[in-house]
Amino acid sequence: MAALKINGKTQEVDVDPNTPLLWAIRENVGLTGTKYGCGIAQCGACTVHVDGVAMRSCSVPVSAVVGKEITTIEGLAQNGVLHKVQKAWIDNDVPQCGYCQSGMIMAVAELIKNKPKPTDADIDATITNICRCGTFQQVRAAIHSIASA
Ligand code: FES
Ligand code: FES
Repeated sequence: MAALKINGKTQEVDVDPNTPLLWAIRENVGLTGTKYGCGIAQCGACTVHVDGVAMRSCSVPVSAVVGKEITTIEGLAQNGVLHKVQKAWIDNDVPQCGYCQSGMIMAVAELIKNKPKPTDADIDATITNICRCGTFQQVRAAIHSIASA
């Protein structure tokens, strides 16, 4: 058993300590907004925040995050108010199929927190999430729309 603090709520999960955090989130806790893409930390579909830092949860064992604050896409909005990245995503019609987008949004939320006005180079260097639908230009436009708001 491990006690995981997810979106402000402590959850007891019955998993092997080596289980990837992604599976504890999806299978044990039932929060399915965090997606599985590659399983090898390459695509970013599984991105969550751990103590405010974006991490690819497919490659983080449960044992490494006990006692830390985990935030998933379901916990990004606060008190019914969308996070500014979520709002920009809607305003800029970013998602296509949507599969990669929760991870993309979590990665961008961290970027914006650390660098409120990122350049294209900053975005390219930080947002390495893969989108098979090719939403990269809309992602970039949405990030700039936040910076100029
Ligand atoms: S599923 Fe984790 S990075 Fe692809
Ligand atoms: S919106 Fe379809 S994979 Fe990114």
